[in-house]
Amino acid sequence: MKLQEVLNGLKNRYPQVTGPLGEIYNNTEVTDHLTRLLVTFAERFPGESDVGVLRAPGRVNLIGEHTDYNGLPVMPMAIDYDILVAFSPREDNLVKIVNPEFPDREFELAGKIERYSSGDWGNYVVAGVQGIIDSVGRKKVTRGFNACFYGVLPTSAGLSSSSSLVVATGMTALRVAGLEMEPVELAGAMARAEQYTGIDCGEMDQAVSLLGEKDMALKIDFFPLRVQTTPLPPDYTVVVANSMVEAAKTLNAKIAYNTRHTVCKLATALLCRRLELDSTKIRRLGDIFYELGPERLLTEMKKHFKWHGYSRLELAAELGITLEQFEQRFGGSVDGETIPEPDCGYKLLARARHVVTETGRVEQALEALHNGDGQWFGRLMNESYYSCRDNYEISHPAIDDLVAIALEAGAAGSRLTGAGFGGCTVSLVADHKLESFMAEVRQRYFEDAIHAYPEAHLRYREKSASPLLALKPSCGARMLYELGS
Ligand code: GLA
Repeated sequence: MKLQEVLNGLKNRYPQVTGPLGEIYNNTEVTDHLTRLLVTFAERFPGESDVGVLRAPGRVNLIGEHTDYNGLPVMPMAIDYDILVAFSPREDNLVKIVNPEFPDREFELAGKIERYSSGDWGNYVVAGVQGIIDSVGRKKVTRGFNACFYGVLPTSAGLSSSSSLVVATGMTALRVAGLEMEPVELAGAMARAEQYTGIDCGEMDQAVSLLGEKDMALKIDFFPLRVQTTPLPPDYTVVVANSMVEAAKTLNAKIAYNTRHTVCKLATALLCRRLELDSTKIRRLGDIFYELGPERLLTEMKKHFKWHGYSRLELAAELGITLEQFEQRFGGSVDGETIPEPDCGYKLLARARHVVTETGRVEQALEALHNGDGQWFGRLMNESYYSCRDNYEISHPAIDDLVAIALEAGAAGSRLTGAGFGGCTVSLVADHKLESFMAEVRQRYFEDAIHAYPEAHLRYREKSASPLLALKPSCGARMLYELGS
């Protein structure tokens, strides 16, 4: 599409969102964001007149936390907040990327692409491109591109900004190479690609970013990926509140996240041994869940797992392996970094109990949505929060404050959303209480409680975007303007 034509179109439409954009977005801010994206692209890559523009949305997970990598279901929805990309193919094999918030990066499509240092935004772009190369083969991905990324999503907030960036890049790389991939296949490829950044993640974020539907929550099952859509209860609104405590997946939260996944692998391995299950067929806790059913699984867990946190030595003995074998199988994350033994030990029972009970809550949540029952859905969100806090231990004092305030302000349910350790809460609020709910949370958390977390308070004062958002489900990733059209 000719860049100037897009800009003129946006100007004429402003501030209304109509036509194809209106079918994707609920809010009207997108014309503003697209204009800024294209103006930046034009400044940074002068002379490029033909552009493609695409979006990959973030998500809010309504219920089903830390279940995806266990092969168990989740229930997220895609949101209007997204990563936008404007791009144009190059004649050579260079990839040049710019982003108003971060330094420019540049790499070549040759051999295995080198990673930047940990935490660099370029790594997510590298991951997306490498993920496409790994899926379709190096020979099909030879042409470089210029791209400007624009993030409308807060980072490190548990709204999946990193996966959206990986998905947006993967789609860009496919377009430039003139290739197509089914969204379900692409979601799997992008989840594997994200592991390139050192996170041993599941497939939820990539799946919802690609397969989200407007006005619909998704129930997603994994291995193989399956999606059911269902509307939210009528007369209720989803509200996301950003605690402003950053849970950067590249810092401690990365180790904490990967450790949770490792503990689930350990629980799976120990159950396999104790129950003499065929370990070649059991790849994750979800496989045992479907083999035994939740009740028997919970009983077996109680019988075979101790309540306390195990040490490495103890677990190696329980598994009948040497400490060296333990280190090899469970001592490192996907990028080879060491996973230290947690201070509290490996809490198999508490962690696995969360995963199993959370799965039950996702199934019930689907039923609650089918019945249009917001109060029931809310109660399940609360139970999920308690389990995330007490069994999985992924909450944060600021999140606990926000949830307590949200419930006192009248939410039907409230919980942390995403990986945890900070970030956002999600609440379900009856429409007739929405206004007073927003006012009370704004006053009690953002004017008062947040002072207890000086860094979060500082961040809150510096950022212009609202940390309290009433959201409707948005569409999944798609091209907004085609190249050459
Ligand atoms: C992160 C991961 C997901 C999922 C959630 C927790 O967002 O990327 O795969 O595990 O945490 O539910």
